[in-house]
Amino acid sequence: MALQLAGKHIVLGLSGGIACYKAAELTRELAKAGATVQVVMTAGAEAFITAVTLQALSNRPVYTSQWDAREANNMAHINLSREADAILIAPASADFMAKLVHGRADDLLSLMCLARPMERVPLLVAPAMNREMWSHPATQRNVAQLVADGVSVLGPGAGDQACGEVGDGRMLEPEALRDELIAFFQPKLLAGQRVLITAGPTFEAIDPVRGITNHSSGKMGFAIARAAQEAGAEVTLVAGPVHLPTPRHVRLINVQSAQQMHDAVLPQAAAHDVFIATAAVADWRPVNTQTHKVKKDASGQVPAFEMTENPDILAAVASLPNRPYCVGFAAESHDLLHHTSEKRVRKNVPLLVGNIGPATFGQDTNALLLVDELGHRELPQADKLSLARELVREIAQRLHNANNDKT
Ligand code: C5P
Repeated sequence: MALQLAGKHIVLGLSGGIACYKAAELTRELAKAGATVQVVMTAGAEAFITAVTLQALSNRPVYTSQWDAREANNMAHINLSREADAILIAPASADFMAKLVHGRADDLLSLMCLARPMERVPLLVAPAMNREMWSHPATQRNVAQLVADGVSVLGPGAGDQACGEVGDGRMLEPEALRDELIAFFQPKLLAGQRVLITAGPTFEAIDPVRGITNHSSGKMGFAIARAAQEAGAEVTLVAGPVHLPTPRHVRLINVQSAQQMHDAVLPQAAAHDVFIATAAVADWRPVNTQTHKVKKDASGQVPAFEMTENPDILAAVASLPNRPYCVGFAAESHDLLHHTSEKRVRKNVPLLVGNIGPATFGQDTNALLLVDELGHRELPQADKLSLARELVREIAQRLHNANNDKT
């Protein structure tokens, strides 16, 4: 996958807390994603982890003091904040957030946050503290004020705490913070939109141990869910049996069969602005699921299963009176443009996306062919997340045009 933070300069600020140990891994994750990372530490942070560790991982000297004589003008707070594409405070202690709220500036990190040009250098904080400290009204007041001041608050997560207690207040894991930052930089093309997506294969049970399914991995649908969420949409993902991590902030509904997928999708489809059907839904299912495993016996008799057709979820959503903007997928083996165009008309949807099924099932890359009433556009071979972001751009453009037509 492309380096998701290439060209981004991140100032990573550490305030004091045991979660400082995770800041080392976070520095590595950001650097691995292509960012340059400049670490700034408070005295409290230095009590938990050394600047040497973070210098080695970021490949840059760490700043710890507002009196740092290395800066020609002796204004580290100005120089550091002007260079940054974003400032991320991780961990952000309760005390440091309180300082931010009050505009205090008695150390380099708080001074730098106060001195940053607010309109072009966003500030993100990843709180990390004991659960009682997090839920204290003073902290909650401070968090609300930070949000009102335009600061993005990432997490915190819940779970085991270093103090032995369990609850809210854990700093998000380094990979999660990296993904939050990647998402933060994506254009908010679907802000306020509700997007419903189906993904993966379905599993049509024959008996308790066997069933009919296919090779869909769900990767394309999950990538689209992630891309739509990064673009600011509220995303619901209805997925058949897959083995994939759920993208952050996406509501996942797990199903097995086509009928279950249909029943999960239909009641909520009209409340969404966009429906994207990437699932490889089984066309048929056995009429009856056997209660017990069908046994092979000595007779050599092969069992016959009576099959029936599954409901077409996309066609059902597309025929709703108040339908969302519908996007279908076609997994073909040949004649992609012909089959995709034909399917678009047959399913009565404004946009159909063709791909070569055998070439993409289970892979991390794909190539897409977008077909609408005006013509077609190819999105050449790329990783699925890049393609998903491009598809989101295309959908956002069409939604925008449709809304303009209405006015
Ligand atoms: O019908 P066909 O499989 O050729 O069309 C594929 C498109 O229709 C995909 O978007 C797929 O998710 C959707 N579909 C569906 N329900 C079905 C079969 C396909 O939503 N039962």
